Amino acid sequence: MRNDNSASRRRFLQQIGATSMLAAAAPLQSLSAKEKAEERVLRYDRKISTGDTIRLGVIGFGVQGHIDLETALKVPGVQLAGICDLYTGRLENAKEMYGKDLYTTRNYKDLLDRPDIDAVLIASTDVWHARMTIDALAKGKHVYIEKPMVYKINEGPQVIEAQKKYNKVLQVGSQRVSSIGLAKAKELLAAGEIGKLNMVNAVYDRQSSIGAWEYTIPKDADASTTDWERFIEVTDKMTFDAKKFFWWRAFKQVGTGVAGDLFIHLLSGTHLITNSLGPESIYSTGQFSHWKDGRDMPDVMAGVMQYPDCPEHPAFQMTLQVNFISGTGGQQIIRLIGSEGTIDVNGNNLTVKHSYMPEAPGFGGYDSVFTFPKAMQEEMQREYEAKWTPEQRRRRTKPDITFAAPKGYSEHLDHFTNFFDAIRTGKPVVEDATFGFRAAAPSLACNESYFKKKIINWDPVNMKLK
Ligand SMILES: NC(=O)c1ccc[n+]([C@@H]2O[C@H](COP(=O)([O-])OP(=O)(O)OC[C@H]3O[C@@H](n4cnc5c(N)ncnc54)[C@H](O)[C@@H]3O)[C@@H](O)[C@H]2O)c1
Repeated sequence: MRNDNSASRRRFLQQIGATSMLAAAAPLQSLSAKEKAEERVLRYDRKISTGDTIRLGVIGFGVQGHIDLETALKVPGVQLAGICDLYTGRLENAKEMYGKDLYTTRNYKDLLDRPDIDAVLIASTDVWHARMTIDALAKGKHVYIEKPMVYKINEGPQVIEAQKKYNKVLQVGSQRVSSIGLAKAKELLAAGEIGKLNMVNAVYDRQSSIGAWEYTIPKDADASTTDWERFIEVTDKMTFDAKKFFWWRAFKQVGTGVAGDLFIHLLSGTHLITNSLGPESIYSTGQFSHWKDGRDMPDVMAGVMQYPDCPEHPAFQMTLQVNFISGTGGQQIIRLIGSEGTIDVNGNNLTVKHSYMPEAPGFGGYDSVFTFPKAMQEEMQREYEAKWTPEQRRRRTKPDITFAAPKGYSEHLDHFTNFFDAIRTGKPVVEDATFGFRAAAPSLACNESYFKKKIINWDPVNMKLK
């Protein structure tokens, strides 16, 4: 087993080496990103003593709960201690996967009462996030909480407060902030590779029923198999509706729509790259284009946010877009636009393109000059050429930079490694409650803006609605 690990680690290091060749045109800082990536790989390979074992409980064992747990268990020294979910079929599935002796429950409070659990992974429906996180911290558990950290903006300060009060590790699960691709983009931006940042265009488009959240509903779904009465303990009273349980993202009583599901990834990525604390104004508009399945959250949505000029970054505008019936076939990109180029971040990979303004102002071509009398045109041409050298009139060029993460690289595994390392060593997590809230609040404000048809003003430093 350890031999396999060492072999894959060596492979990984070699690939990182090859990657840095690709980025040969990058500034010197690329070296530091390379070293960081190597450091992380080395950490996976570290020996863990038995005293370092972390016992993990899971609350919410749906699609992401499965994926998160599988990833978390790849980190050495992490053991599964129990799983909580409301739907009986998922508890059965948990025992099928992890053994019939696995502790399972429908009541997350029982799971939190277990002394053999050190940390919980919360991947429940958004509407439950804040309550479960606060309850878990109060019971002395470390928490990995899926994004969005909260369902409502006013829950953010309560979660931040609880983390401070109970002093346990809290990592928010926007795993992309741990990506080496994002770290690379951050470093290139800071190095001035694209000049002064002025805009971010972020897109997350899909073109499929599953992409639009129409997940397969199990054959036995009813109020008893889903423990519906418990599910609606934190919502208005609603009669059983399988869609609200299994397609919850599409309904405002339980979900947060495309903003809480996908804008948040674009925002947390952008905040990491730019060091931003967040926007100061937020506007959003949406429409129902195709998925007319009873949902009350739009399937096409756009947001516009204004980020202030501040010590962390110059003023920039952010546009966000999600289109669930996109003829592009689906695309995902964060494009940072600066005065001298662009960085396109696509998953863990990126491309930098450069474009420079000539030093000399323009003269001739699509200009007013040709509308002047001939003699004046000729005289002005001579003056222009005398004033500006050909070099000053040319656009400088610089080769593109591409960065591709090594094959098999997983930012998700990095994110969990960071969480468990923080528990073991006390060092800070990459995405704490404040970072999580600073991404969640503007995302949720998009829904507020859409429903109220107004601009939402936000104080990103003090994290308050204005
Ligand atoms: N980080 C990512 O890339 C990413 C990707 C997908 C989903 N997510 C997040 O993960 C969370 C779960 O999403 P999903 O796609 O797995 O949804 P899902 O519907 O597949 O799973 C949610 C599960 O939570 C359970 N649940 C709800 N209320 C509960 C309660 N009170 N007690 C115990 N269990 C409860 C449900 O039974 C269900 O099985 C969401 O917050 C979502 O935003 C994150």
